[in-house]
Amino acid sequence: MMKYFSIAFTSVMTSVMAILLFSNALAHHNSPESLEARVAAVGTLNIDGGSAGVGVATNDADSAAPETGETVYNTNCATCHAGGIAGAPILGEVDDWEERIEQGMDSLVEHAILGFTGSFGVMPPKGGNTALNDNAVTAAVQFMINQVE
Ligand code: HEC
Repeated sequence: MMKYFSIAFTSVMTSVMAILLFSNALAHHNSPESLEARVAAVGTLNIDGGSAGVGVATNDADSAAPETGETVYNTNCATCHAGGIAGAPILGEVDDWEERIEQGMDSLVEHAILGFTGSFGVMPPKGGNTALNDNAVTAAVQFMINQVE
């Protein structure tokens, strides 16, 4: 839970800092002549940010095989498993996975596909994305196990 709060806190702080920086920039450009320059500058920033973001995402999707366990994990499982949201065992945390792994891969995969409720929380079927096929979920589980072995 602490991790969740610190992630949330960090993103709030990042937004606050972005707003402060932005209003600071505006305060230093109060003359009317600079209006155009200001708009242009902001527009350029937005366009750069937008295209860079889309470009990275598109390249990732194109270059990586869409069905790798890591891709499936990043898209469908990281929401909970990266930070331990809702009681999820955290990726790469040996303590969180040791006992679970002892039950065997088949059981882990079954729990990931069908969903299961343990003493920590609820693992939704296929992480909530029922459009995923079983192979994709299996690959994601294998990827998660690989991070602690
Ligand atoms: C909404 C949050 C959430 C998402 C999304 C999610 N999980 Fe989970 N997962 C959990 C929780 C919570 C647990 C632990 C439940 C418990 O033991 O009480 C868990 C447990 C697991 C386990 C251990 C099962 C066991 O038998 O101990 C595996 C494997 C797993 N998840 C795989 C996945 C995969 C693969 C995905 C993506 C396709 C995924 N999870 C997405 C919440 C989530």
